[in-house]
Amino acid sequence: MQLGSRVRVIGIASGKGGVGKTTIAVNLATALAESGKTVMLLDGDLGLANAQLAFGCQVKYNFSHVLAGVKTLEEIIITTSSGVQLVPGASGLQELASLTSLQAGIMLQGFESLAAKLDYLIIDIAAGISDSVITFLQACDYRFIICKDDPSSYADAYATVKVLNKNAASDNLYLLTNEVSDEAHALRLHSSFNNVTNRFLEFSIGMIGHVVKDESVPLAWKKAQPVVQLYPSSAAASNFRQLAKNVDALIKPTVNLTAHT
Ligand SMILES: Nc1ncnc2c1ncn2[C@@H]1O[C@H](COP(=O)(O)OP(=O)(O)OP(=O)(O)O)[C@@H](O)[C@H]1O
Ligand SMILES: [Mg+2]
Repeated sequence: MQLGSRVRVIGIASGKGGVGKTTIAVNLATALAESGKTVMLLDGDLGLANAQLAFGCQVKYNFSHVLAGVKTLEEIIITTSSGVQLVPGASGLQELASLTSLQAGIMLQGFESLAAKLDYLIIDIAAGISDSVITFLQACDYRFIICKDDPSSYADAYATVKVLNKNAASDNLYLLTNEVSDEAHALRLHSSFNNVTNRFLEFSIGMIGHVVKDESVPLAWKKAQPVVQLYPSSAAASNFRQLAKNVDALIKPTVNLTAHT
């Protein structure tokens, strides 16, 4: 599968659940949109989708309606108040939660016509390392692995990286540390993780940015708005704006990656 030549496709994964994928996907998308980019966010968590809650959007149709042939992809897109185009996932549908890699591949093909009009397509990927998670990540130009400084997050982030490496999808792979105390903490966590990937997988993993632990983040969730928009002067919002700058500075690969469906 090849998406249009302009768009950069970014996958956000973590292995472990609840470490900040949706928070980061939503706020990175918002920060990029605020800087004038055309951004689409695909809620690739088709079992427990909740990106629409972070944006405070009412969703009538979601990706399950596209897969059922009731709606087209264009018909379910919602433009959020921050200008991000959201493709809502489905919630509570078990059959979608366990999407096969073939179905995930077909789903991504639907984005081909839209992708040419976008600067960024950000995919908020489900927890775990199922076939569909790996398929989504293989289809991305860039893969961001979210990791917190706790043993289970670290272990699951490493397991994700290991599976990607086994599936020839470990290029343009970056660590993004969340809920750290400051930049020095983020650098220490990255350095420790990178030592492990160097030692056992024989490659280095880059660091794309970090987000500090900040009470503004759960507060913004409660008020159903991205923290970047609601609390623009918070520490987390400043991290997200820096992250957007780092992302924009990445150079798009000359050859698009192909999903192995
Ligand atoms: N930097 C942060 N500071 C404080 N709280 C945070 C931060 N990042 C995330 N959180 C909190 O952690 C919780 C989980 O975040 P989020 O829903 O983004 O995780 P997730 O990885 O998408 O979870 P899931 O695997 O269930 O999809 C939320 O309550 C959120 O408010
Ligand atoms: Mg999530």
